[in-house]
Amino acid sequence: MVIRGGRPLSGRVEVSGAKNAVLPAIVASLLIDEPLTIGNVPDLRDVETQLALVEALGKAISRDGDTLVITGEASRAEAPEEVVSRMRASFLCLGPLLARFGEAHVPLPGGCVIGARPVDLHLEGLRRLGAEVEVCEGVVHARGRLHGGEVWLRYPSVGATEQLLLAGAVIPEPVEVVNPAREPEVMDLARLLSAMGAEISFSEDRITIQGGKLRGTGHHVIPDRIEAGTYLLAGAITGGEVEVAGARPEHLTALLVKLEECGVGIAVEGRTICLKARVPWSGVEVETAPYPGFPTDLQPQFTSFLALARGRSVIWERVFESRFGHVGELLRMGARITLQGQAILIEGVEGLRGAEVVATDIRAGAALVLAGLAAHGETRINGLDHLRRGYENIEGKLAQLGAEVWVEELNVT
Ligand code: EPZ
Repeated sequence: MVIRGGRPLSGRVEVSGAKNAVLPAIVASLLIDEPLTIGNVPDLRDVETQLALVEALGKAISRDGDTLVITGEASRAEAPEEVVSRMRASFLCLGPLLARFGEAHVPLPGGCVIGARPVDLHLEGLRRLGAEVEVCEGVVHARGRLHGGEVWLRYPSVGATEQLLLAGAVIPEPVEVVNPAREPEVMDLARLLSAMGAEISFSEDRITIQGGKLRGTGHHVIPDRIEAGTYLLAGAITGGEVEVAGARPEHLTALLVKLEECGVGIAVEGRTICLKARVPWSGVEVETAPYPGFPTDLQPQFTSFLALARGRSVIWERVFESRFGHVGELLRMGARITLQGQAILIEGVEGLRGAEVVATDIRAGAALVLAGLAAHGETRINGLDHLRRGYENIEGKLAQLGAEVWVEELNVT
């Protein structure tokens, strides 16, 4: 992707369905033999991968625009290696397969550039519910009849919470997840599972789910708060004025508060967030945390924004141990950033210059897009497939905001 930066963005974009809500919803189809209809599905590489997984397990997919209908019966308890190694979210099929077949064989998901990303909380949780789990040669083998119980998570892991909700939906006794994740995407999965017939209740420290015979249903996926935040930051970093429509502003409170602290103007009208940049904007201190804290998935993008703030900023990355792949690339564009343990120390600079850079993961790629939009000259971002995993029609939406952006296919000789 090539971006000729340096001009303020203005205009309106529509938010697509949330990647991190639709990926668990697709896996929930393994729990039933009746049709599951999912609306507001974004056109993303990761969605294709998750659909390939459930097809490999026996489901049939039909698609009409942004609506999916998943039918048929899961007929295999073994997830294909090439799919799971491509995308971590496919590991969520372990619980459903185990709960349905009494056994499951799923390869360990690969780590990635943002950290080791172990799955110990997933495995310990399923063991608490009666599973015998062993890992050999990189494959998780689980077997046994699952029963109810109380599972305490030492960390409110999004994936582990979703894994336990998916398994609990078909266990006819109460499963209590103590210290669960409360991200909007987790709550969206809970909403889907209740619509399918599970009984779910929430208290201050736990989610309780009681499963049983589930039925098909229709589900409309929530909008993607990380995509929405990324486009708001595109307006802010270029000194522009943008409207992000079809969002859920209440899912972005931590970002909106921080943007206002930097001096940026924010107005919320229903499901549209209107942003009016303020130039220059001030540096701030922020730390990432589980929801409703500042989302780690907006940390790289916010790093780019603060690279051009006036004065110093500090961002503490408290969720992943090494989510700093974007920093080296930003330095090559003229940013002044140093890393100290989990802290990203930023000295604001007057401007960035376009450069040839490499995206190492979805959100690092988004950070480089934002830096390129603000930089003088042309920025060439390699590793477009990372962006395609998480951002639907990103060049179209950026062009809608007035960005000069195009894609060049590398003719690899
Ligand atoms: C989900 O990943 C998201 N992915 C991530 O978004 C997001 O960054 C993350 O939640 C945190 O919000 C999807 O929903 C598909 P975690 P997940 O389990 O479930 C540690 C994006 O760009 N941990 O909450 O993997 C883990 O190492 C992606 O869209 C364990 O130690 O996140 C990490 O440090 C990136 N053991 C922390 O917990 C476990 O068993 C948070 O991980 C599980 C997690």
